[in-house]
Amino acid sequence: MNETEALIHKLRRELEEHNYRYYVLSSPTITDRDFDLLMKELEELEAAHPEYHSPFSPTQRLGSDLRNDFEQVAHRYPMLSLSNTYSEEEVSEFYDRVARSLNDDFEIVAEMKYDGVSISLIYRDGRLLRAVTRGDGSRGDDVTINVRTIRSIPLRLLGDDYPSEFEVRGEILLPIAEFERLNRERELADEAPFANPRNAAAGTLKQQDSHIVAARKLDAFFYAILGEALPCNNHYDNLRKARSWGFKISDATRKCGSIHDVFAYLNHWDVERKALPVGTDGVVLKVNSLAQQSALGATSKSPRWAIAYKFAAERAVTRLKSVSFQVGRSGAVTPVANLEPVLLSGTTIKRASLHNESIIERYDLCIGDMVYIEKGGEIIPKIVGVDTDARPAGGMRRVSFVKHCPKCGSELFRPENEAAHYCPNRWECAPQIIASIEHFASRKAMDIRIGPETAEDLYHRGLVRNVADLYGLSLDDLLRLPRKGDRSAGNLFESIEESKSVPFERLLFALGIKHVGETVAKRVVEAYPSISLLRPATTEELEAVGNIGKHIAQSLVDYFSDERNISIVDRLASYGLRMSAGEGPVAPRSSKLEGLGFVISGTFSKHSRDAYKQMIEQHGGHNLASVSAKTDYILAGENMGPSKLARALSLGIRILNEDEFLSMLTE
Ligand code: IVH
Repeated sequence: MNETEALIHKLRRELEEHNYRYYVLSSPTITDRDFDLLMKELEELEAAHPEYHSPFSPTQRLGSDLRNDFEQVAHRYPMLSLSNTYSEEEVSEFYDRVARSLNDDFEIVAEMKYDGVSISLIYRDGRLLRAVTRGDGSRGDDVTINVRTIRSIPLRLLGDDYPSEFEVRGEILLPIAEFERLNRERELADEAPFANPRNAAAGTLKQQDSHIVAARKLDAFFYAILGEALPCNNHYDNLRKARSWGFKISDATRKCGSIHDVFAYLNHWDVERKALPVGTDGVVLKVNSLAQQSALGATSKSPRWAIAYKFAAERAVTRLKSVSFQVGRSGAVTPVANLEPVLLSGTTIKRASLHNESIIERYDLCIGDMVYIEKGGEIIPKIVGVDTDARPAGGMRRVSFVKHCPKCGSELFRPENEAAHYCPNRWECAPQIIASIEHFASRKAMDIRIGPETAEDLYHRGLVRNVADLYGLSLDDLLRLPRKGDRSAGNLFESIEESKSVPFERLLFALGIKHVGETVAKRVVEAYPSISLLRPATTEELEAVGNIGKHIAQSLVDYFSDERNISIVDRLASYGLRMSAGEGPVAPRSSKLEGLGFVISGTFSKHSRDAYKQMIEQHGGHNLASVSAKTDYILAGENMGPSKLARALSLGIRILNEDEFLSMLTE
């Protein structure tokens, strides 16, 4: 081995050791900055010496340029699920059943049931060979490239007493704090927030781009090892061994010698789990001895030697003050419960969605009722019951669903087979029009800088009554809006101008046609690449081409058969918006940014984010989703994310403002 190779090996070992100390033991021995410097050194060496590339190098944790293909892989041992229990009685029954079947002494290992995504890892000769999701239990998706980015998962094992090949199973999780950070970021970027940490972890694990996965700080706990030559004859000791090889094994795992020990564990963790940094939804109880496990065996679905005990969802009780009704873009009217503020799982709850009339009817809700609310794994709490005993003897006012639109007074209708009520006054009902302007302007649609307040102002001042009116606005009109200074009015004016070159498929999405979301719009445009082809299409034709379903086809035909829509589309065309595909991205203009990686962060005043992205590509550079050692420049606008800034500084990446960037192109 020459000197360079030896240095690469040394750096890899050191970095893995620091990863382990930081992410598994939570006791780092060097600063983040020193860690980043070591990493950069290794990256540079590896880049200069591709002959020493290794998929097990800690640099792989930053994400790989290889695309994930999520190939389906068969599990060697099926990934069973657990039968669930919800009460101490059911736990006792399980315990007695095991005792009867074994007719011998036994121990139970109690563990936390982590609420994430199950994963199976195969290690050969101490190296991570493959990571596969549970899938249908017999086959799952190969997500190795993404899993390599999870810092608490060892790429190479510690020690030397591991079997030459074995499988380890566990749960991949997004820590709660990281989930909240991610959702804040998504809200700022106008993206739908994840409903809960489990969904966020699952969505992240299926990302095509592993750099995004690397930026999201997933974690993993392991709860089983499987294989032919395991070191010990019981589950508990095998987990301890796995911990010594570098896996993160929960400190909350306990051996229980009696049912009383088991109950004590359940009661303790029902409360203490709330302080854990990751989500749990119960406890898993397992027979410790492997010989006893195989004697007990399994059904086709779950083992007989283990059960899950699920914690009751956290509930709170509070008073229903009133119910208000909101009108959405489609005209759907949603009831919202206004509650006396109450604390539930660490957040103060003031409102709960009632979805539609059926919940009001099911609980026979009255104003002033004491209602039970639950978080049920979702962020928006729901009403799950009413304390009818708490009702006073005298009559109370029942909640009734409004018959008329709370905003425009039109009579509501309820389509057959739908639970929702709608306001039919699409063309004159203010909240519907304002929401359609907001939708049209949103990032994924026309990317015009209009927030909810500006949309309201534009509507209430009579400046915009439909989306085509946006293009008739003068700079003077915008300057007269409240809260708009020269600069923000100028930005808005410019972003309206720039939106004229948004591709046709995004315009089609922006029109807000029922059922035509982003993906459907793309599909429709593939089959009908221009408005003149799409407009006369019949439902039969639409259904016949390219995967367009009955409801979508009908909705498109309805849209284009309304003269008022046609007039909007014609006006948009007259303002120069793109009405056909193929007027797509412009050919490269220069190679000034050849090979350079950019991350864009913050908000800009001269051009939109998308315009900057396009410029980067037109000049040979590429856009990166997150800051890593592969980033050459950060194009920073106002309010750049503090974590990005810190990371950029620690990696010594150059930060450019708009002017500096633009002068790179003109130099
Ligand atoms: S043991 C054959 N232990 O819960 C037994 N599972 O329905 C296999 N889970 O998808 C599971 N924490 O991913 C086991 N400590 C734990 C667990 C755990 C979470 C998940 C697991 C599986 C589901 C079982």
